[in-house]
Amino acid sequence: MSFLSVRMRASLKGKHVSGAERIVKDKELEETLSQLVKRPSDYDQMVITIEKVRKLRRVEESLKLSSFNFNSVSEARQFALRKLKESGVPESVALKGLNLISRGANPRGGIMRGAVLMDIETGNRLEKDSERGVRTVRIDWENRREILEILRKRGLTERTADALALATKNIICGVVAELCWSDDPQYLTGYVASRTLGYVRITPLKEKGDPLGGRIYFVRREKLLEIVKCLEEEAILLKRLQD
Ligand code: COA
Ligand code: AMP
Repeated sequence: MSFLSVRMRASLKGKHVSGAERIVKDKELEETLSQLVKRPSDYDQMVITIEKVRKLRRVEESLKLSSFNFNSVSEARQFALRKLKESGVPESVALKGLNLISRGANPRGGIMRGAVLMDIETGNRLEKDSERGVRTVRIDWENRREILEILRKRGLTERTADALALATKNIICGVVAELCWSDDPQYLTGYVASRTLGYVRITPLKEKGDPLGGRIYFVRREKLLEIVKCLEEEAILLKRLQD
């Protein structure tokens, strides 16, 4: 049986507005396309890429998911910093990452097109292009419908399913820890992810109406090339949600 990587991106007036991807069996292609084309609410260009997957890695389970709510952004951010420290990120480097997302990691302003790669020892940025960053692609759930059902029963959405899959792939590829919150001004939940702590959802990591967000991958610089290759190229299907 062959598998396909199906990726959709849409833009409006030259600005990226929506992206989503799947790894599916070839017989599921049509249904997948009909779901993906409905994702963007408005666009003037949509690009869909379909590629045969040459080598697929199946992984038994995702990171373990947990959620924490706070009364203020500052308490939530202090908690995120603590979780990063527990994951092995030095306090000063964790703070540098957090400050970078909160003021906008794109040196030219606006949001980045991918994640920041941050040297876990020095806090230096390691991406080749700091407006672009690096993107994690070729990741999906083997049984997306089942995973969505489980998450919906816990009051969670497809957004969490996608972010959890992406964060799990990052850790599999060798990222030590990740800090993320969305650039969607209405979506205030972010997360810290690491091998030891799992996927820790944290609310609210920013104030309502704040358009800035991003992702920081804390990495060991000697592993940079293999990590980036894995994030961009390795196709991974996740079997189960870790309980
Ligand atoms: N943000 C902004 N621009 C993006 C983008 C993104 N996430 N993904 C693609 N683009 C634009 C860029 O201009 C890019 O050019 P660049 O490489 O110079 O940055 C161009 O599209 C082509 O990108 P490419 O890497 O060829 O796209 P792709 O066909 O491999 O698709 C996506 C990548 C869209 C599937 C991926 O970025 C994505 O959005 N995945 C889903 C992530 C997800 O699930 N998020 C929700 C959980 S938080
Ligand atoms: P989102 O959670 O979709 O709002 O995305 C938050 C930030 O993550 C974006 O502003 C980008 O900087 C970054 N990003 C988007 N897609 C990817 C990806 N596929 N891999 C890594 N980073 C991404």
